[in-house]
Amino acid sequence: MVSGGGTNLQAIIDAKAAGKIPDAELSLVIASRKDAYALTRAANAGIESCVLRKTKDLSIEAYGEQLLAILREKQIRLIVLAGFLTILPENVIRAYDHRILNIHPSLIPSFCGSGFYGLKVHEAALAKGVKVTGATVHFVNEIPDGGDIIAQKAVEVLPGDTPEVLQRRVMEQAEWILLPQALESVAAALNK
Ligand code: GRF
Repeated sequence: MVSGGGTNLQAIIDAKAAGKIPDAELSLVIASRKDAYALTRAANAGIESCVLRKTKDLSIEAYGEQLLAILREKQIRLIVLAGFLTILPENVIRAYDHRILNIHPSLIPSFCGSGFYGLKVHEAALAKGVKVTGATVHFVNEIPDGGDIIAQKAVEVLPGDTPEVLQRRVMEQAEWILLPQALESVAAALNK
């Protein structure tokens, strides 16, 4: 599930193409907005995709039911939130307990939870003056960024870093490596 540029999705697509992640098929990409470049990446890789928006007139439960209908129809067993910016409804979280992975661009429990997304995470890390940050892959539960941690990777903060520069380094050195690896290990465990 994606909302933006989809570089994390691309990392998963590339890992799969390189023969990694043998226990999972990439069967569907769901975007929260129709202009997400991640949809182009899905199309280029021959992966089916759809757009599902949480509009104001749709209750969170009804949105969750729509999402569940799509997931069931496609027989989806495992979900990866790869830069997905809509909060998932509880009915979806309950139906996929320990089957939803999320990537967060900090070392949880630092700089996480409500309001910590995108560049805000890196702005907060720089404001605090931490010398090491990183990325975390975790299972999704009802607490934002609060589920069980699957994998973490540290990344150095360097003098003169801007939020944008730090974001890029965290992606290159941690997120794009960690997310495909975590997916591979969770899929392997599910298939045992
Ligand atoms: C990543 O930094 C991810 O950790 C965050 O949103 C960003 C998504 O980037 N939650 P992309 O769409 O995968 O390029």
